Amino acid sequence: MSSRTGEDGSVTQPPRAEQPLLQVEGLRTHFSTEHGVVKAVDGVDFTIERGGILGMVGESGSGKSVTGLSILRLLDPRNSTIAGDRVLFDGEDLLTKSDKEMRAIRGRRISMVFQNAMTALDPFFRVGDQLVEIIQLHQRLGRREARAKALEALELVRIPEAGRRLSSYPHQLSGGQRQRVMIALALACGPDLLIADEPTTALDATVQKQIIDLLLDVNRELGTAILMVTHDFGVVARMCRTVAVMYAGRIVEAGDVRTVLERPEHPYTLGLMRAVPRVRSGVRRKSDRLYQIMGAPPVRAADAEGCAFAPRCPEAAPHCSTEEPPRVEFGNGHAVLCHERVASEEAGRVSA
Ligand SMILES: Nc1ncnc2c1ncn2[C@@H]1O[C@H](COP(=O)(O)OP(=O)(O)OP(=O)(O)O)[C@@H](O)[C@H]1O
Ligand SMILES: [Mg+2]
Repeated sequence: MSSRTGEDGSVTQPPRAEQPLLQVEGLRTHFSTEHGVVKAVDGVDFTIERGGILGMVGESGSGKSVTGLSILRLLDPRNSTIAGDRVLFDGEDLLTKSDKEMRAIRGRRISMVFQNAMTALDPFFRVGDQLVEIIQLHQRLGRREARAKALEALELVRIPEAGRRLSSYPHQLSGGQRQRVMIALALACGPDLLIADEPTTALDATVQKQIIDLLLDVNRELGTAILMVTHDFGVVARMCRTVAVMYAGRIVEAGDVRTVLERPEHPYTLGLMRAVPRVRSGVRRKSDRLYQIMGAPPVRAADAEGCAFAPRCPEAAPHCSTEEPPRVEFGNGHAVLCHERVASEEAGRVSA
């Protein structure tokens, strides 16, 4: 959001309510590995409005989890570097916060449901005690009040017999219930932003739908904004207003969900969408076989050049492998990183 000039000519920041809740600009996260530097996140920009839901999709290894973990600065500084222009949360740059300040933000203002949520619960502690611990970490409450809040959190995620479940150990719950507990832990302190990293992947279709409905209710009733990381375009269509498609550490296409799903422009998005099985009347036909994008997503080395998708792209031209792809905008926030779209735009202009 741009600054504005005040009556006295000074530049003032817009009021907080007008700023997006999260504004990520030029985020870069690199790991040093025995094979050299890996650019897991390589210049990512996106915005989440207050109460908004952004879907983030992309194949395995494209950098979705590392993006979420970088926002919360949860990566081990011994082998990772988070650089970036800015990660503005509620107008404040998280990249300049001290560790102490970040501890106050995590769980309280931004929380995350981790991808390996099933194993993230401590097996030796009762569900209620784990909730009370996180509540007391952020709020000065006595044990009785914290326990009442823990019960509220379990009720919020619609765990049956929530009162009794406070005394359960994680292994006494079903997979779907454990996932609800993870969401309760993330929501217990009323965050403004929830980073949900594939919160439904390990669950069967019915439970998946229930969890999506639950997250939608939380978004509507509490106004919690959500960064929804998923492999599933169906989930994006159901939940999200905007979507970002990641490939090899970059957002290669972004825009509002309807536009991107109905008129995808990037060859990678087109490939991903063709990979979604269409099941008509419950019967899979031969033509519904999963289309696969040939090849595998790359691990980006530090000296890699050109468009990372070029080796797998059906439309690639020679310069795609050597020159950085430009950002092409189609209006209304819909944009792609692609040489070929520039070429087709120019061709369109010439023929017009
Ligand atoms: N701690 C780490 N050390 C080195 N490389 C890492 C580390 N964590 C992630 N990476 C690499 O960063 C890249 C992005 O990983 P990330 O976990 O963000 O992928 P993802 O998009 O979440 O994939 P998935 O859909 O499988 O969850 C991968 O190449 C991965 O191997
Ligand atoms: Mg992941």
